[in-house]
Amino acid sequence: MPALYPGGILPPYMSSENERTLILVKPDGVARGLVGEVVRRFEARGLKLAAMKLINAPRATVERHYEEHRERPFFADVVNYLCSGPIVAIALEGPNAVKAARSMMGATNPADAPSGTIRGDLALSIENNIVHGSADAESAAKELAIWFSDSEYV
Ligand code: TYD
Ligand code: MG
Repeated sequence: MPALYPGGILPPYMSSENERTLILVKPDGVARGLVGEVVRRFEARGLKLAAMKLINAPRATVERHYEEHRERPFFADVVNYLCSGPIVAIALEGPNAVKAARSMMGATNPADAPSGTIRGDLALSIENNIVHGSADAESAAKELAIWFSDSEYV
């Protein structure tokens, strides 16, 4: 049985064999010129670019993206941060893309992220942790729908 998500049965690309996940290179990653480094790592792992765009994220989009954190004390700060400069939104595709990308990112707090991970190698503080990656298949489906329309997939 395919897993369920709030919209119903997972679409075919969300099966673990050929899964999609949302990656955001956050404003500090873009400002520091690390887009290439982040994309290089995911591509080298074997994940494919399914969609990618450089944008100034609308506040309403960022608030929907971080909806689950609305009541947390850091919500306003993280939303302001995501709106503070251009970001790159990426849909990555491949077997177990969600889990593979998350493990390559390392812990939310870069101080706890091992060397070899994106946050462990490139970041120092939780407020500026370079990348977002969907936490599970259900969040991936929800987040991809927030950032990309069907026509943006190549
Ligand atoms: P979260 O979804 O818990 O982490 P992740 O990005 O690893 O999925 O939190 C979302 C973002 O909110 C996180 O990347 C950085 C920010 N944040 C803080 O600034 N302080 C915190 O205590 C937490 C938990 C997150
Ligand atoms: Mg998260």
